[in-house]
Amino acid sequence: MAKHIMSMDPGKAETEQLKKEYVTFMKGVISAPLNLPGTAYRKALQSRSTILKFIEKKMEERVKKLGGDENLEEDDLLGWALKHSNLSTEQILDLILSLLFAGHETSSVAITLAIYFLQGCPSAIQQLQEEHVEIARTKKQSEETELNWDDYKKMEFTQSVINETLRLGNVVRFLHRKALKDVRYKGYDIPRGWKVLPVIAAVHLDSNIFDQPQHFNPWRWQNNNARGSSICPSMITMGSSNYFMPFGGGPRLCAGSDLAKLEMAVFIHHLVLNFHWELADIDQAFAYPFVDFPKGLPIRVKHHTLI
Ligand code: HEM
Repeated sequence: MAKHIMSMDPGKAETEQLKKEYVTFMKGVISAPLNLPGTAYRKALQSRSTILKFIEKKMEERVKKLGGDENLEEDDLLGWALKHSNLSTEQILDLILSLLFAGHETSSVAITLAIYFLQGCPSAIQQLQEEHVEIARTKKQSEETELNWDDYKKMEFTQSVINETLRLGNVVRFLHRKALKDVRYKGYDIPRGWKVLPVIAAVHLDSNIFDQPQHFNPWRWQNNNARGSSICPSMITMGSSNYFMPFGGGPRLCAGSDLAKLEMAVFIHHLVLNFHWELADIDQAFAYPFVDFPKGLPIRVKHHTLI
């Protein structure tokens, strides 16, 4: 993310420093708001201010660079925002901070969850392999190497795997909302101005909506609905259903939802075509509150070639 946003290379000292600040920031984002020495909240506030100063410094350096050369086009978001948008400095800072935050570890956790769920479901791996071998074979015949949009559109079963991973894995467990007016809901009064946290994980794991909700079952997303969900799959289009909202909904719908799904699909393509994997240690996902694997999900990987 830092590479695309501010051309910061992975592994470099300043990138690692930024990452460290982000980890501290994330730990305190959802914590008791006690601004006292030593609390996670206080540390997060300090890290947030360090990150903002860092981004501001990057902006100043870039403005200087751009000033010297009108034609200089840095291929990252910061360069684009400075050259082609009329956003204020404060807005650019906010944009970069939120994108770093929102894109940090969301896609990578989702991919880790897919690796985890799939190793327990060999028939899904087999069906994925069939789908991706077919795509890879067609590409080979036309002497193409890189995946393109048409290939992505052919990844139907992969989409079911992605949906099921997001439903069962619940990378983001709840949303943040505020009641703009007094609301009466199912006998409860929610006064204007109150914070409301819709827990999307509770919907995704509700047995009234999904059969055997704790079971990883990508086929529940298929049109023929062969292995059973009680919900009509055609209702579950991203962003338009109250039953499936891994990316939230409404005007605040995740801005990176399509990118995240694309990243997952490309990863799955290369994974199932080239590797066999198994867990190297017992590990499972926990949410405290961000989803993570306590041991980092160690796996043993063997290379294979299917095409
Ligand atoms: C599997 C990966 C991801 C999941 C599950 C996810 C989920 C979410 C959720 C639940 C929200 C809150 C939506 C709401 O309040 O209704 C959100 C917001 C957001 N996400 Fe993601 N996200 C993912 C990846 C990404 C990536 C890769 C990016 C950017 C590169 C991104 C950028 C954003 C932004 C900018 C917002 C704020 C949108 C707004 O408030 O207007 N997300 N995401």
